Amino acid sequence: MGPFFPGLKAALNYHPIFVHFPIALWLTALLFELLAVCRSSDDSHRTAVWILYLGTLAGGLTVITGLYAEDSVPNGPAQAVMESHQAVMLTSFSLAVGLCIFAFFARRNLTAGLRKLMLLGLVILAGLLTYGADRGAQLVYQYGSAVNWPAAQQQGQTQK
Ligand code: HEM
Repeated sequence: MGPFFPGLKAALNYHPIFVHFPIALWLTALLFELLAVCRSSDDSHRTAVWILYLGTLAGGLTVITGLYAEDSVPNGPAQAVMESHQAVMLTSFSLAVGLCIFAFFARRNLTAGLRKLMLLGLVILAGLLTYGADRGAQLVYQYGSAVNWPAAQQQGQTQK
């Protein structure tokens, strides 16, 4: 694996592989639901719902890998950031599951009002997601969580 995927070999956990999928898919679902409301389009709504389903599936894997990654967070101030990230992302995931259930049961008698309600849910999801994912990025870029420090320092030594 090393020669082909040196990045993966150096990774300390699998969370970063999954994180981008729910972010991209949930935000794309929001975009399609916005189109659905603006154009009164059932097709755009259906597309939004399928993308939301996929994003929530990816979100489940992201939550599982995140819970495994938890132990690698350094002690100190990073722990508070991790708790905030965890709480907001678990809330986001629960909201996404709720929206999936809502979309599934509303699929037969869809009204303009229900589409707007779905849009509101996705706007709230996007807000939570943005806040929570930023705390995840803070863990990596400010506190160096999940950085393979021994490998990075070894590389630094060989470059000197
Ligand atoms: C849908 C759910 C989640 C999303 C979208 C998400 C997103 C992110 C993002 C964007 C990062 C920064 C990664 C990078 O820049 O490489 C991150 C890091 C991190 N997240 Fe999450 N996260 C989620 C759930 C969770 C949960 C439930 C936990 C449990 C504590 C968690 C723990 C961590 C940890 C420890 C890091 C630091 C990097 C690492 O160890 O891999 N995440 N997350």
